[in-house]
Amino acid sequence: MMISLSRALLLTCSVACHATAHSIDSNYRIDVHSHAIPDIWKQAMISAGFPIENGTLYNDGAPVPDWSLDTHISSMDTLGVNYSTLSITAPGVSFIRDAKKAKSLARKINLLLYDYTQAHPTRLGALCLLPLPHINEAVKELEFCLDTLKFAGVGLYTNANGLYLGDSTLEPIFKALDKRGAGVFVHPASPTCTSVGLGHPMPMIEYPFDTVRAIENLLLTGQRARYPDLNIIFSHGGGAIPYLATRIAGVATLPYGGGIAFPESLAQLAGYYFDLASATSAIQLAALKSFIGAKRLVTGIDYPYVPLSQAQPGLVGIQTNGNFTDSEMGEIRYQNALNIFPRIAEALNIN
Ligand SMILES: *[C@@H]1O[C@H](CO)[C@@H](O)[C@H](O)[C@H]1NC(C)=O
Ligand SMILES: *[C@@H]1O[C@H](CO)[C@@H](O)[C@H](O)[C@H]1NC(C)=O
Ligand SMILES: *[C@@H]1O[C@H](CO)[C@@H](O)[C@H](O)[C@H]1NC(C)=O
Repeated sequence: MMISLSRALLLTCSVACHATAHSIDSNYRIDVHSHAIPDIWKQAMISAGFPIENGTLYNDGAPVPDWSLDTHISSMDTLGVNYSTLSITAPGVSFIRDAKKAKSLARKINLLLYDYTQAHPTRLGALCLLPLPHINEAVKELEFCLDTLKFAGVGLYTNANGLYLGDSTLEPIFKALDKRGAGVFVHPASPTCTSVGLGHPMPMIEYPFDTVRAIENLLLTGQRARYPDLNIIFSHGGGAIPYLATRIAGVATLPYGGGIAFPESLAQLAGYYFDLASATSAIQLAALKSFIGAKRLVTGIDYPYVPLSQAQPGLVGIQTNGNFTDSEMGEIRYQNALNIFPRIAEALNIN
């Protein structure tokens, strides 16, 4: 604790004392969806019994790729990404049932994320890993990340061991986020009933479906309505929300669906930001453009889970498949991300 605090003080000084004004051009690109994969996290998963096949660790039916800070930065260079926010993908530390152990691992990982950002302060920001579903521990970690380490924002998951966004248990988290105006990045997770995946990799369709489930729950429980000002990003084009929103809003008008006025539901469902990781086809972008528009879209790469061979054409496809204007591309490339995470602008000393 003492060490981390003194490190944080050093950070304050290094930014305040040495940063020079950093102008950004219209081609600047901020990636809000990229992952660090620290060894301690992999080791904890291995200890918890996650499967290893042919020497490769698997999570949710997909291989966990190799990661290093250096390859992260060099991939950003290859893709023309100026700034990335680092988060830990699902399941975070929710596979650790003991609250103290989960918090301890989350703290270690958050301090690593902090170190990565300190090694590259103009390239990397961090999103806090919370030891959910342990609420008290998660609130403390959120406070530590945002107030002491000055992280750019907070990472959440669509569910943590079946505790979905929208659940009233999460109110203290939402209050703490709201109080700080913190930007939130929600990564999809597998539903706990993994048999629905039929043995296929869960990220393929269960992640997008879980995004729909979380957004639906936030609407129907009224949690989103209680925190309308929080800037929240959902991944991968909002799962299937652009396609299903009118169905959800239609059922929600009925008495058994909650009796919420159609326009109110639609406004809430479209009141988030969606990142474009693996959502760059002409069909997806047409739906996103008409459902939420360029002011609500942010760039996401999903490094290192999406191979560069897919990420690179995906980035090009945003413009060509989306037919966005130059000014819309500026919003998608960096302006919207700066609105969600004003601390990135502070770290870069812009504005
Ligand atoms: C593991 O290795 C064996 C032999 O090289 C190969 O047949 C099999 O497909 C591999 N399995 C996976 C999941 O990569
Ligand atoms: C952003 O990245 C691009 C491509 O790598 C580079 O040309 C440009 O100079 C960078 N901008 C800043 C402000 O660092
Ligand atoms: C692209 O958008 C412009 C307006 O910005 C429009 O005139 C043009 O028809 C669009 N092209 C396609 C292929 O949709």
